[in-house]
Formats: sequence, C-alpha cells, structure tokens
Amino acid sequence: MSNVELGLPALPAKPYPPEVHQRLAADARQLIARYPQSRSALLPLLHLVQAEEGFVSATGIRFCAEQLELTTAEVTAVATFYSMYRRRPAGQYHVGVCTNTLCAVLGGDQIFAELKEHLGIGNNETTEDGAVSLEHIECNAACDYAPVVMVNWEFFDNQTPDSAKQLVDDLRAGREVRPTRGARLCTFKETARLLAGFPDERPGAVDESGAGGAPSLAGLRLAKGEQLPGTPGARVVSPRNEGTEA
Ligand code: FES
Repeated sequence: MSNVELGLPALPAKPYPPEVHQRLAADARQLIARYPQSRSALLPLLHLVQAEEGFVSATGIRFCAEQLELTTAEVTAVATFYSMYRRRPAGQYHVGVCTNTLCAVLGGDQIFAELKEHLGIGNNETTEDGAVSLEHIECNAACDYAPVVMVNWEFFDNQTPDSAKQLVDDLRAGREVRPTRGARLCTFKETARLLAGFPDERPGAVDESGAGGAPSLAGLRLAKGEQLPGTPGARVVSPRNEGTEA
C-alpha cells in the first residue's frame, strides 16, 4: 500500500527548516540517550514530531529515520500501526469517541453520530476553525465509565450525546473544561510532547492525575469480601481463590 493510500504524503519528504531540525535533534538526543539501543526510542520520537506538527508527516518520518538510522519504510510501518499517531493534522483538541462494544451499546455509537452531525465533520476530520478533530476509537480500558469520550487522551466519563455536544462547544468557544479524571487539558501538540517523555511543567498538573475511581475498584472490593450496595451477598475469597457466598 502506498503512503498516499495510508493517508501520508508521498515520500521523499523535505527536511525540517534548519532551526527546527536543530531544536528537534537536541530533543531527540535526550530521548535516545534513555535507551540501550537507539531504535527503542522510535515511539517517543514519533510523539516528538507529532508535537511539532500535530501529526506524523513525511518530514517527521524522515527526521525519525535519520536520527535512528532506520529506513523511512521501517518508521512508516510503526507510525501507521499505532493509532495514537495521526496521519492528518489534528485539531487543537482531538476528540475520541469510544465505539467499542460496551461503549457502543451504552450510547457511544449515538454520541459519535450526533457529534459528526453537530460538528459537520466525519471520522478523522477537523473543524474549519482547527479547534476540534474527531475520531472513533477502540476500547480505552475505561468500560466501567462507559460511554467514554477522550479529549487529547484525557477521560470524560459517562457521556451522553448532549454532554458530548456541550463539551465540543465549550472547546471551540475556548471555555475551560475539566476531564473527569486526570490532569487538566492541554493542546494536542502539548500532549504529544508529554507523551514523548518530557516533563509536565504546568504547576500542580502532575498531582491532578488522580487514582482509580469507585467503579474501577468495585471488583477489588468484592474480591476482598466487601458487600457492595446492590449485591446479594459479599463474596469471601479463600487463599486458593475459591469464593463462597457470605
Ligand atoms: S468499550 Fe469503551 S472504554 Fe471499553
């Protein structure tokens, strides 16, 4: 399959302008130094170039290949395998709607359909103002809060079509929105730089990450024999993991 068919510009690509290349190369050296083998730094480097342009461009692929002494084909294979690497420019806020099984049946499909109509864009497209891009995504391992929506990979739990539309309206209007869990939002490019492995320097942001919520911990509480509201009886678990009703 060609690069164009994969949604990537045709190769070969132009290099970054010298000042951009110099800055990114310094960042790349920091990342590469963390690994015994340089090629292990490919995933962080892809986030690094995504932080520069809002997606992994052909120029970004060329940069990664040069830094790691890989072929552009090898870098392209990785960049197109993982869905967190965008092949087209993302909006300032990248909205992902989980349409995997549990979220879908609990309303994710409806949320995605109504957001597409509300924003006037399709899957993997960006609003004209560049504020919001939309993508249907696979299970986010947050099924206990289904249906979930993510903005720049931060969770917005237990969504409805109306709450999701309000969310994107607030994002486009520049009103502050707070994820249900995790740190406050930053832009897609800023998020990509954090994912590359650079520290979050926003005061207090790291402490906002939070911990598992009540739905996530319900199984653990049951396993410990605790009776939860609405359950017929606590389950007492023996050391051999054989449960009996209390
Ligand atoms: S199915 Fe949506 S988070 Fe798992």
